[in-house]
Amino acid sequence: MRLLIDDAQIDRIKELYEYYPVDGVTTNPTILAKQGKAPYEALRQIRRFVGEAGQLHVQAVSRQAEGMVREACRIVEELGENTYVKIPSVKEGFKAMRELRRRGILVTATAIYSPMQAFLAAKCGASFAAPYINRIDNMGYDGIGAAKEIHDIFKNNGLETQVLAASFKNSMQVLELCRHGIGAATVAPDVMEGLAKNQAVTTAVEDFIRDFEDLAGAGKDMGTC
Ligand code: G3P
Repeated sequence: MRLLIDDAQIDRIKELYEYYPVDGVTTNPTILAKQGKAPYEALRQIRRFVGEAGQLHVQAVSRQAEGMVREACRIVEELGENTYVKIPSVKEGFKAMRELRRRGILVTATAIYSPMQAFLAAKCGASFAAPYINRIDNMGYDGIGAAKEIHDIFKNNGLETQVLAASFKNSMQVLELCRHGIGAATVAPDVMEGLAKNQAVTTAVEDFIRDFEDLAGAGKDMGTC
């Protein structure tokens, strides 16, 4: 499962990249708005940092297909290789996805609240389909169940589209999708930190250090004892 950061704050992105095996960055208009920077200024900074190898997902905001396609061309022109244009999975979006596919522009179908939207997006040629786990839960449905169902629909229909699960509230949800073999998950920085945070582990490691220092002296380690 690929692991991406759902954030546009460059300092947080840099810190997470330093510690965790991150595959890329996803943004949406709300995330960009929180930066208060001009959209392409923030996005170019992210692209420079993640390099061509890092996936960068950027959303179009037009209501009509023609506008989405126009935006997609600019997004790719500005941000280069390995940039996925996020297109909402609505009627106009499906039209745009097919045109973008024809032009060879990579698409992430977003704002997915139901498996049928994901199926249509996959048939339109989207590389990824992004179900919103937490938001589906908040509607009284099962977000994790929906993401798994979408994954199975793609597999059972020979579709190459992968699930890019989004909108998580905790790290357990990420683990559950990892277990199911989901293609990718994009998570907020606090959820990513939560994947590794565990008091039992911290205590075990501290115990080892204390025992070693009792043996070899305070501040000593295997390089200095
Ligand atoms: O980018 C879409 C998705 O990540 C939204 O997440 O937390 O706003 O529901 P959230």
